[in-house]
Amino acid sequence: MRFESQKAAYKYFIFTLVLLVLQVLFGLITAAQFIWPDFMAQTMPFNIGRAIHINTMVFWLLFGLMGATYYLVPDETDSELYSTKLADFQFWLLAVTGVVAVIGYVFGWTEGREYIEAPRLLDWLIVVGVLAFLYNIGITIIKSKKWNSILAVLFSGLAGLAVMYLFGMKFFGSISLDQFFWWWVIHFWVEGTWELIAAAITAYLLIKLTGVQLKVITKWLYLEVTLVVLTGVLGIGHHYFWIGTPEYWLPIGGIFGLLEPLPILLMVIDTMRHVKHSPELHHNRVALLWLIGAAFTHFVGAGLMGVVQTLPSINKWTHGTQLTAAHGHLAFYGAFAMLVIAAMYYAVPNIVNRQVSSSKGIWAFWVMLISMVCMSFILFGAGITQVYLERIMGMDFNYVKTNFTNFWLLWRLVAGVAFTVGTIILVDDFLHLAIKKPAVNRRDIDAGL
Ligand code: HEM
Ligand code: HEM
Ligand SMILES: [Fe+2]
Repeated sequence: MRFESQKAAYKYFIFTLVLLVLQVLFGLITAAQFIWPDFMAQTMPFNIGRAIHINTMVFWLLFGLMGATYYLVPDETDSELYSTKLADFQFWLLAVTGVVAVIGYVFGWTEGREYIEAPRLLDWLIVVGVLAFLYNIGITIIKSKKWNSILAVLFSGLAGLAVMYLFGMKFFGSISLDQFFWWWVIHFWVEGTWELIAAAITAYLLIKLTGVQLKVITKWLYLEVTLVVLTGVLGIGHHYFWIGTPEYWLPIGGIFGLLEPLPILLMVIDTMRHVKHSPELHHNRVALLWLIGAAFTHFVGAGLMGVVQTLPSINKWTHGTQLTAAHGHLAFYGAFAMLVIAAMYYAVPNIVNRQVSSSKGIWAFWVMLISMVCMSFILFGAGITQVYLERIMGMDFNYVKTNFTNFWLLWRLVAGVAFTVGTIILVDDFLHLAIKKPAVNRRDIDAGL
C-alpha cells in the first residue's frame, strides 16, 4: 500500500462481507419457502425475504466497488485521497441507510420495484452518499491532474451509475412507462455503467497482479468500453418486448442483445492474454485466481445465459421463468461478486500488512464457484421444465410447480447450502486476516504463494 488514505477502503470491504452473509441467509430462507411454503411464512414472508436477498446483494456489490475505488484511486493518481473524513462520513451514511432499509422491509416499508425497493426518504440519503463519493473521487483525480484510461473509464461508470439511479426515483401513472424507466436503472446499471467500473477495476488488478503495463491494457480497455456502450444501450430492448412498448423494440432488442456478449468475451481474452504474457506474476495468486474466475463466469453467466433468451421469438416462451433466475444468479456472481472478492483479496492483505493464507481463499473460490454454477444450471433445468410444461403444454402453474419444478428447486437448496459453506470459508479467511495473525505455513511462503 503506497498511500495511507487507501485504508479508507477497509471499512467498505468489511461491511461488504457482513451484507454477503445476510444475502446468503435470506437466499436460503426464500429457497426453502419454494419447497415448504409455510416455512417462516409468518415471520418472514417470501416477498420480503426476496427483497432483502436482492437488496443486500445490490448494497454489498456497491460497497465492494466503492471500496475497490477508494483503494485504486490514490494508487493511480499518485496522491492521497482528497478527504478520508468524507469517505468515512459517506460510509456511515450509506451503511446506516442500508441497515434501516433492510429493517424497514421487514415492517413492509418499501417502495416496490425489485432491486431498488428503498423508500423515497432513504433514496435521498443514498443520493447524498453517492454524491459525496463522486465528489471525493472526482476532486482527488482533478487535483492530481493524472487522468489515465483506468480513471477515465472508472469515473464515467461511477457518474453514470449515480445518474441512472435517479430514473428509479420517479413514479409514472402508466405501468408501462414506469417499467420503461425502471429498466434504465437495472439494465443500464448491470449492462452499462457497472460494466465500465468492472472493466476499469479488472484492468487495474491485471496490472498489479501480472505486472503488465498500462499502455498495453489501454487500447483493449477502450475497445471493450466502446462495445459495451454500443451494444448495451440498445440492448435494453430485450426488456421492452412485453411491457407495452412499440413493436420496433423486438428487432432492436434481439439484434443488440445478440451482440452484447462480444465485449464480455473480449474481456476474457484480454485477461488471458495478459496473464499468459505477463513479465512477472504477483505473489498473490489467490487474488489472481478470483480475477480469472470472474472473467470466465462473467462470460458464461451474463453473456451465454443472457444471450440464449434475448431473441424475442425465444423470450416469449422463457420470459420470467426460472431461466431468468439462472442467468441472474450466475451473471451477478461472475461479473461483480467475484470481481469484488478479487479486489478484496488484493487490497485487504496490503491494508492490514499481512500475507494472505492461500489455502482458504482457494477453497472458498472452488466451493462457491462450483455450487453457484450448479445452482444456476439447476435453475436452468427448472426453467426448461416450466417452459415446456406450462407454456407449451399449457399445464397449470401450481400443478407443475408441485409435481415437477420443485424437484429442481430442492436441489437448488442443496447447492445453496454448499454455497453457504463456501461463504463461511471466505468470511473466516478475511476474519483471520483482519483480526488474528494468519496461519501462513512455511510451505506457502517458500512456494511464493
Ligand atoms: C453483468 C451483466 C448482467 C447481469 C448482472 C444481468 C442480470 C440480469 C437479471 C438479474 C435479470 C432478471 C431481471 C428481472 O428481475 O426481471 C436479467 C434479465 C435478462 N438478461 Fe441479463 N444480466 C447481464 C447481462 C446480460 C447480457 C449480456 C445479456 C445478453 C444479451 C442479458 C440478457 C437478459 C435477458 C434477455 C433478460 C430478460 C429475461 C426475461 O425475459 O425474463 N443479460 N439479467
Ligand atoms: C445460498 C445461496 C443463494 C440462494 C439459496 C439463493 C436463492 C434465491 C431465491 C430463492 C431467489 C428468488 C427467486 C425467485 O423469485 O424465483 C433469488 C433471487 C435472486 N438471487 Fe439468489 N440465492 C443465493 C445466492 C445469491 C448470490 C450469491 C447472488 C449474486 C451475487 C444472488 C442473486 C440473486 C438475484 C439477482 C435474484 C433475482 C433473480 C431474478 O429476478 O430473476 N443470489 N435467490
Ligand atoms: Fe438487460
